[in-house]
Amino acid sequence: MQALDKNPTETVIVMETVPIRFGMGASEELGYVLQQHQVKSVMLVTDPYLASLGKASTIQALIEEAGVEVTLYNQCHAEPTDLSFKEALDFQKGKSFDAYVALGGGSVIDTAKAMNLYGTYPAPLLTYINKPIGEGRGVPGPLKPLFALPTTAGTGSESTAVIVLDLLDLKLKTGIADRNLRPTVALIDPLLTLTMPPVVTASTGLDVLSHALESFISRPYSMRPRPQTPAERKPYIGANPIADIFTQKAIELAGKYLRRAYFNSHDLEARAGMMLGSTLAGVGFGNAGVHLPHAMGYPVAGMVRDYIAPGYPSDDVPQVPHGISCIVNAPAAFRFTIPAQPERHAEAARLLGVDTSGMSQQEAAEALPKALIQLMKDIDAPNGLQDLGYTKADIPLLVEGTMKQQRLLVNSPRPVDDKSMVKIFKDAMQYW
Ligand SMILES: NC(=O)c1ccc[n+]([C@@H]2O[C@H](COP(=O)([O-])OP(=O)(O)OC[C@H]3O[C@@H](n4cnc5c(N)ncnc54)[C@H](O)[C@@H]3O)[C@@H](O)[C@H]2O)c1
Repeated sequence: MQALDKNPTETVIVMETVPIRFGMGASEELGYVLQQHQVKSVMLVTDPYLASLGKASTIQALIEEAGVEVTLYNQCHAEPTDLSFKEALDFQKGKSFDAYVALGGGSVIDTAKAMNLYGTYPAPLLTYINKPIGEGRGVPGPLKPLFALPTTAGTGSESTAVIVLDLLDLKLKTGIADRNLRPTVALIDPLLTLTMPPVVTASTGLDVLSHALESFISRPYSMRPRPQTPAERKPYIGANPIADIFTQKAIELAGKYLRRAYFNSHDLEARAGMMLGSTLAGVGFGNAGVHLPHAMGYPVAGMVRDYIAPGYPSDDVPQVPHGISCIVNAPAAFRFTIPAQPERHAEAARLLGVDTSGMSQQEAAEALPKALIQLMKDIDAPNGLQDLGYTKADIPLLVEGTMKQQRLLVNSPRPVDDKSMVKIFKDAMQYW
């Protein structure tokens, strides 16, 4: 104990995740899972597009066959906002049910988490939102059970303790992080992803890759100060040997399968590979945490002016899909972080499929941003921030928005300040 007391840095890894049911047909086990948890009535949460594809009615029928009553909320917004959360909260007011079922991408799962949080412990919106934007107050206690069925191979929200939302007036994306937000069970069925249009496959798949790369290349847990009490330990602890196992495999899977899933939406092996990658990255980043590309992605999404991703199945409102908002920053961010951990960048390039044999460590590390750019190009991702409508004149505000994401920036393997952020944003304007 004495040796530990003298050591002010972290020595403990906490690895938390949800019980997972993964694989083709996993969603069909929902009725059984609800019965196991003695659920009698649920709020089924989804979005209008998924409802129009018939997915919500299939899941509703499964729930009702298990003898469970359903109230359907099918109006979640893609990339949810303070306003869309309020609409969802208004909808559920006065309705009585035991649990939530979220059927959708991160937008739906996060909306269900917010309905659960603010429905159980009502409070002004900013109460639980991360500091310095909100008050950063912890969730007071346990929430209703939430069963999550992801339909994108993307955010990993089905296993994370996080909600992300857009604060419209502040033109800023931010989040709420608390262990109580983790869903109760994740039913992860690659068959639910077959209908994703290529542009959604690209954006969500690049999100998977960004999660895995950022977590694998984050400031190691052992460099953080040890918290005074276990309760003070944050959900994101930095790269660690347990999360590495998940994130390394996720990088490899995204490298192998994302192009295939993009070009052939019915390639089952590729869909399953991307869903597994998403699950593993979710478990990895849900504990290790993300950093620069995501922290930069929040103002990139929040400050959007008139960008509409061609073919994206959301209303015709300007918005940058989440995965795109992060990946456009990633090559520039990783060029910046190479000096802090060249060996991890080199290993990530190898996992992504680059033949690094014969390269020096520095060459292999530099191959990572190059491989990322090639992948972005291959699956028609935007060519940097310029393609989203940003110019150099936007950089000061983009930097200001990024520097507010301290929860994520502490995870960067190389510390950043305003000056270095300006440099990284300049570098992220155009890649090819
Ligand atoms: N909570 C977390 O841990 C976490 C992590 C990362 C991102 N996020 C958040 O998640 C949101 C993005 O979620 P997302 O990337 O999964 O996309 P999404 O949920 O916004 O879905 C994108 C679009 O694709 C459609 N779609 C989803 N699944 C489909 C399917 N199977 N077939 C056809 N269309 C489908 C949706 O209807 C929507 O129009 C953002 O708000 C982001 O900030 C949350």
